[in-house]
Amino acid sequence: MRLAEDLEVKGKRVLVRSDLNVPLEDGAITDDGRIRASLPLIRSLAEQGARVIVTAHLGRPKGAPDPKYSLAPVAKRLEELLGRPVRLARDVAGPDAHSSVEDLRDGGVLLLENVRFEAAETSKDDAERGALADTLASFADVYVDDAFGAVHRKHASVYDVAQRLPHAAGPLVAAEVEVLGRLEKDPERPYVVVLGGSKVSDKIKVIDALLPKVDALLVGGGMCFTFLKAQGYGVGSSLLEEEMLDQCRTLLESGKIVLPVDVVAAGAFSADADHDVVPVSEIPPDRMGLDIGPESVTLFAARLEGAKTVFWNGPMGVFEMAPYAAGTKGVAEAIASLHGLTVVGGGDSAAAVRALGIDESRFTHISTGGGASLEHLEGKVLPGLSVLED
Ligand code: 3PG
Repeated sequence: MRLAEDLEVKGKRVLVRSDLNVPLEDGAITDDGRIRASLPLIRSLAEQGARVIVTAHLGRPKGAPDPKYSLAPVAKRLEELLGRPVRLARDVAGPDAHSSVEDLRDGGVLLLENVRFEAAETSKDDAERGALADTLASFADVYVDDAFGAVHRKHASVYDVAQRLPHAAGPLVAAEVEVLGRLEKDPERPYVVVLGGSKVSDKIKVIDALLPKVDALLVGGGMCFTFLKAQGYGVGSSLLEEEMLDQCRTLLESGKIVLPVDVVAAGAFSADADHDVVPVSEIPPDRMGLDIGPESVTLFAARLEGAKTVFWNGPMGVFEMAPYAAGTKGVAEAIASLHGLTVVGGGDSAAAVRALGIDESRFTHISTGGGASLEHLEGKVLPGLSVLED
């Protein structure tokens, strides 16, 4: 892959695909990690005198403008962090985008509105995506993809536009690919993976791909209950995917999967619900497990001790609610204390690290891409990467 740092960009119009898909609550950004991660490329291009046109998505609007998904709060935060003006075009490929590109001067930064306001962005039809990519390509002389979190999407602004312009990988994409490559090619042992999150079905492919390579796979979060049930435990009203039980039984035969030994069981999915710690053999029928318990944290920490390579994806419990945050915090602390290669795989686990106040620099790498990093580890060909490699 050609790298953005090798491009001559002074006076050139550079179309940058960034992943600025941040969580919002009542219109306010609750975690700006992805904006911060996107800054180095945008700043460096602007400082070199490029005309920077950033395209990005936010959420999953239905292919038409929707104020709820406007990039306006993102533009404001980007401007604050960048310390230079960021103009937000009111559309993606319409009249305001065209005139904003025309007005752009060397060193200027323009953010196009949410690219998913155009139905063509995510269309399965090559010609439809191609038409949008043609317009985006007409705005620029060169394309740089720095949106690692979106490289698994065959979308117009990720894939098709790269076919139409000279292209390069941004520093974030390059760093993510390098670190994930270290996990895939001959990782230093012991290699321990920690998986959480709600559904086994979302993670089944990556579990299949990782089990032969790892020394231990520690499972927490909502998905652990399907494994516990497969082992014969009653799991009360905890999250359960009945249809995954057989697959979980087969996976357990590997002998590498480590499950919690106690959980925090609550009367309802609420921070105010009555709750207590119970062994996994005693989850009451009317209670749901919302976090792993303290003995499980101790067990997981013991299995992590001495690990030379660790990949962690998915919280151990509903960390957003204080009574169920200790499991995620305890496991995060255990990983952060290790001396080997420690990679946090994006999405909720990256947000958890920041929300729980754990110093990000204690991990080797915090990925910005949840789905993208998992698909990379599954060994899938990611459209947004393969198109940069040609
Ligand atoms: C993410 O949040 O993982 C990326 O921004 C991709 O978003 P998507 O899953 O909506 O394509």
